[in-house]
Amino acid sequence: MPDNGAPIGVFDSGVGGLTVAKEIMAQIPNERIVYFGDTARVPYGSKSKATITKFTKQIVRFLMTQDVKALVIACNTMSAYAIDEVEKEVSLPVIGVVKPGARVAVSQTKNKRIGVIATEGTIGSGMYERFITNIDPTVNVLGKACPLFCPLVEEGMLDDPVTDEVARRYLKELMDQDIDTLIMGCTHYPLLAPALKRLVGDKVRLVNPAYETARELKEMLTENGMLNDKPFNEQGKDHEFYVSDLADKFTRFAAEILDNNGINTRKVDIETY
Ligand code: DGL
Repeated sequence: MPDNGAPIGVFDSGVGGLTVAKEIMAQIPNERIVYFGDTARVPYGSKSKATITKFTKQIVRFLMTQDVKALVIACNTMSAYAIDEVEKEVSLPVIGVVKPGARVAVSQTKNKRIGVIATEGTIGSGMYERFITNIDPTVNVLGKACPLFCPLVEEGMLDDPVTDEVARRYLKELMDQDIDTLIMGCTHYPLLAPALKRLVGDKVRLVNPAYETARELKEMLTENGMLNDKPFNEQGKDHEFYVSDLADKFTRFAAEILDNNGINTRKVDIETY
């Protein structure tokens, strides 16, 4: 069993999971993160369940070689399709992003009309709808797949007229249906939050599941006596970042998102796991 000083494994298909890593760093700053982004095979959102499950298992096997004490699936698509498989594969605590996101959206909606924007995979899995209506069966869940958002984010087009136009087309249908809450159901999307907010205005609350996911992780580590109580700067080790391709591009992106110029990213041949 790993000790409390062991890191947390956090993973995504690319840079999106950094939005979750950032929130974990803010809420539980003593915890060290080993991050993996599958930049060679992103996007996952339009791939089949079988492929996503296979990729997820490879990432989990890699992270297990890093002696992590818990796993955070910082990707809605992998959480929706493969969390059960991950739980079967490892005996560590595993936290996904879908359930925490569903919970916070239900607590926020007033008119019980919740929009979900996510990948084709996440929308197709029906997971958000299932979790939301389990909590409150009277809520209407309106899903919209936004397959172009992930590539736009991976290309760094966060503030760009092309992204604004794509967002306008995707969101129109949901806005016409009078939603008052919108779940950013892909960990890449919070990076588009300013553009999304401009479109939906003050009437619609944007839900970023990352905050609630980090809170749930903190709660789980606390309840299980697994928190790292040594201050981060006394641990003599830093967060670690791994990708399956284009390490330098990832480093530049991560430096910006995490506001940290000391990031060093290593490339892993994930197909061998
Ligand atoms: N960031 C991921 C998610 O939360 C996946 C995006 C993708 O690879 O398509 O769903």
